[in-house]
Parts: sequence; C-alpha cells; structure tokens
Amino acid sequence: MSARWDVQPVARRMLVQDLPDVVSIENRIYDFPWTDGNFRDAIGSGYDAAVVEFGGALVGYRVMMFGPGEAHLLNLSIAADWQRRGFGRHLLLASIHDARRADAQTLFLEVRPSNAAGISLYEGIGFKRIGVRKGYYPALGGREDAWVMSLPL
Ligand SMILES: CC(C)(COP(=O)(O)OP(=O)(O)OC[C@H]1O[C@@H](n2cnc3c(N)ncnc32)[C@H](O)[C@@H]1OP(=O)(O)O)[C@@H](O)C(=O)NCCC(=O)NCCS
Repeated sequence: MSARWDVQPVARRMLVQDLPDVVSIENRIYDFPWTDGNFRDAIGSGYDAAVVEFGGALVGYRVMMFGPGEAHLLNLSIAADWQRRGFGRHLLLASIHDARRADAQTLFLEVRPSNAAGISLYEGIGFKRIGVRKGYYPALGGREDAWVMSLPL
C-alpha cells in the first residue's frame, strides 16, 4: 500500500507566516478577496483563524468569530487546485467542533445566493437559511444579497 494514503489533513492555528499562501489562494478564488490586512486584523483581534494542511501543502483556511453563545464563520476557503476532495467539509466539521467546544449554541454564516457549491456544502451539513441581507456583498454587476444561514450546535 502506498504511504500516500496514510497522509491526513491537519488543522492548526493560522500564523502571520501563512499569509502569503493564504492571500495567494484568496486572490485566485474570489472576485472580492480579503486582503493581507484583513487577515492580519482578524488574527490580531483574536478571531479563531485556522489553516488545513495536507501532505505539507496549505490547502485551505477558515476564520471564525465568537460572541456570547454564538459563533460566526467569516471565511471558509479551499485552494482552487484542492477543491472537491472533501477538504471543505472537513474544515467545516472541524469548525463546528471548535464552536461547540467554545460553548457556542449557534453557528452563523453568510453566503452569496450565487455560490451553489457553498450552499450545497452548508445545507448538506444541516445549515438552514434564516434571513437575507440585501446588497450585502460587492459584485461585478453592482451588489449581491447575502443569505444568512445558521446551524444549532
Ligand atoms: C465552497 C468550498 C469551501 C467547498 O470546499 P470543497 O473542498 O471543494 O468541497 P468538498 O469536496 O468538501 O465537498 C463538500 C460538499 O460541498 C458541495 N460542493 C463542493 N463543490 C461543489 C461544486 N463545485 N458544485 C456543487 N456542490 C459542491 C457538495 O455538496 C459537496 O458534497 P458532495 O461531494 O457529497 O457532493 C470551496 O469550493 C471553496 O473554497 N470555494 C471558493 C470559496 C467559497 O465560496 N467559500 C465559501 C464562501 S461562503
């Protein structure tokens, strides 16, 4: 059996040293990416920022914020070359686990209605749409709504 099959994805805290890789992934997968400064601010503010590595490659990351009794997933991203291999679901389940451990009772997130992959991932885990923020996101043609989704923990 090849040793390759023994390699498991490993999640760990995001460090400032990860930002060149993170920002490069971000720039490739979003029309309106977070900047290096956005990630630095998130880390500096004590948000829960984590990366997932696989076989030495940084394949994805997430940023989560905690409030009283709740958690908010602000960013969940998998590098373009590593998508559709289960890493997004892995990172989302790890985020749910971490939110439960932090005593959050609900996990919230926003997603673009045009993001079929994200919506399918979230609905598959059990997230439900609970509201709409009108014109929340910048979009190439103007603004786009956000769906607010939540998962009881
Ligand atoms: C959305 C995203 C995080 C999914 O991560 P991923 O590692 O590619 O997804 P996974 O392989 O773990 O797939 C999990 C589920 O997501 C959904 N999914 C993922 N890619 C999809 C696609 N291209 N089309 C439709 N559904 C998709 C499916 O429901 C899939 O379950 P299935 O494999 O049983 O069909 C990833 O595509 C990504 O980073 N996209 C760009 C950034 C983004 O949109 N982030 C979310 C912002 S709210």
